[in-house]
Amino acid sequence: MKKISIKIGLLFFCLIFTMEVCLFFLLHQKIAHSRIDEQLSALVTRGNNHRDVLETYYNEETIHHIALMEVKSDTEVVITNEEGKVIISSAKINHQIQSLLNLKTKNLPRNGKVIEDNWKSGPYIATIAPFETGVDKGYVYMFQDTSQLKQLIKQLNRHFLIAGIATAFVTAIIILILSRIITRPLIKMKEATKKLSQGNFSIQLESKSNDELGELVESIQLLANELNHLKTERNEFLASISHELRTPLTYIKGYSEVAKRDHLGLEERLSYLNVITEETTKMTTLVTELMQLAQLDNNTFTIQKEFFSVCESLKKISQRLLPTFKQAGIKLLTVCPENIHIHADPVRFEQIVVNLLENARNYSPEGTSTTIEVAKKDAEIKISIHDQGKGIPSNDVPFIFERFYRVDKSRSRELGGTGLGLSIVKELVDAHHWEIEVSSKTNKGTTFTIIARGEL
Ligand SMILES: Nc1ncnc2c1ncn2[C@@H]1O[C@H](COP(=O)(O)OP(=O)(O)O)[C@@H](O)[C@H]1O
Ligand SMILES: [Mg+2]
Repeated sequence: MKKISIKIGLLFFCLIFTMEVCLFFLLHQKIAHSRIDEQLSALVTRGNNHRDVLETYYNEETIHHIALMEVKSDTEVVITNEEGKVIISSAKINHQIQSLLNLKTKNLPRNGKVIEDNWKSGPYIATIAPFETGVDKGYVYMFQDTSQLKQLIKQLNRHFLIAGIATAFVTAIIILILSRIITRPLIKMKEATKKLSQGNFSIQLESKSNDELGELVESIQLLANELNHLKTERNEFLASISHELRTPLTYIKGYSEVAKRDHLGLEERLSYLNVITEETTKMTTLVTELMQLAQLDNNTFTIQKEFFSVCESLKKISQRLLPTFKQAGIKLLTVCPENIHIHADPVRFEQIVVNLLENARNYSPEGTSTTIEVAKKDAEIKISIHDQGKGIPSNDVPFIFERFYRVDKSRSRELGGTGLGLSIVKELVDAHHWEIEVSSKTNKGTTFTIIARGEL
């Protein structure tokens, strides 16, 4: 569960820790060197001072005085003549000092130089400064015990160790907190998607950040909402289908039972059988339309566009529907300039128009007229179907494209409607990337307008 935070944390820790170790090492080297350089140059300066005094007042007393001064301090002095014979020394000459005195140095600069700087393994660091008076020539050697320097570096090491441990500790804590903060939304999303995969779509994810992680959280939430919506929609749809199928089946069952009775006259029996035929027709329509919808829902559904004349197509359709309009006592008019062509799937286009015309016919009273009007403006073709029927109450308008939605259920059923017509229209319009608009006034009429844009 928390593996990702451990991974990220360890990775960052290794990186930052390595960086800190390098930096600490460099800093340590720098400080240690500058400390040692300081000591060495102080020793050179001290030797030079003795040399200056010697050159100014060269006598026994001065020599003794210099030796005495060094006895009191933590450095030692050895003064030799040119041949290397010791004139005076503030400390006992042991073999380590002797071996340093034996080092022959040529071309000595007047201001002296360091002859031993190995503080790590040697017992002394040492410098030399030449002196020259009218009487004598020789060298002033300065020695400093390295144990003090070693102590100093040891102390420095200890400080660095403490600082290093403290830094590593603080780094670890900061990284721990940071990696938790970074991975918490990831873990939450993981849990949420697990729930999704188990079919629990009612998840609630919060996203406070507006970075990529925040966007991911939002996308997952959107996905969950969408899935939840689809689930309820599917359940409702299935419930509606079974309800819609049950009604005609109840009729068929009931009327067939009645038609089986012995004492019925032929006419009565026929009327019952007629009802059964009618209900079967309705069921066939319902199943056909459901099949169409299922096909439209399927992603493999494609429309085969052709370039054809809108007017010719519309005229053919109205010719076909004219008898039913006549029967209903409704006039059907087509207003269409000849030269308008459209890129569309002709079969689907017909399906759209027929559905809308059938609605206009079904929901209009006798003596009214229905008009199909086509207009082209720039890159836009508008096809409107206007009727003078009973209209759709404004409360219902937002829902009429939903499956099985009918304003007047019993009236629609009586007319053979299934409540699927407009949802099929909507799917077909969407498949063409067109738009459909409705405007309606109760008892005045309804206008459906299809707006086709772009590639016409
Ligand atoms: N031209 C119209 N005039 C009045 N009401 C309409 C019109 N077109 C659709 N409707 C309303 O919208 C509902 C849904 O239409 P539709 O999806 O075609 O289903 P139906 O099978 O009932 O015709 C209809 O039941 C009807 O109440
Ligand atoms: Mg209809």
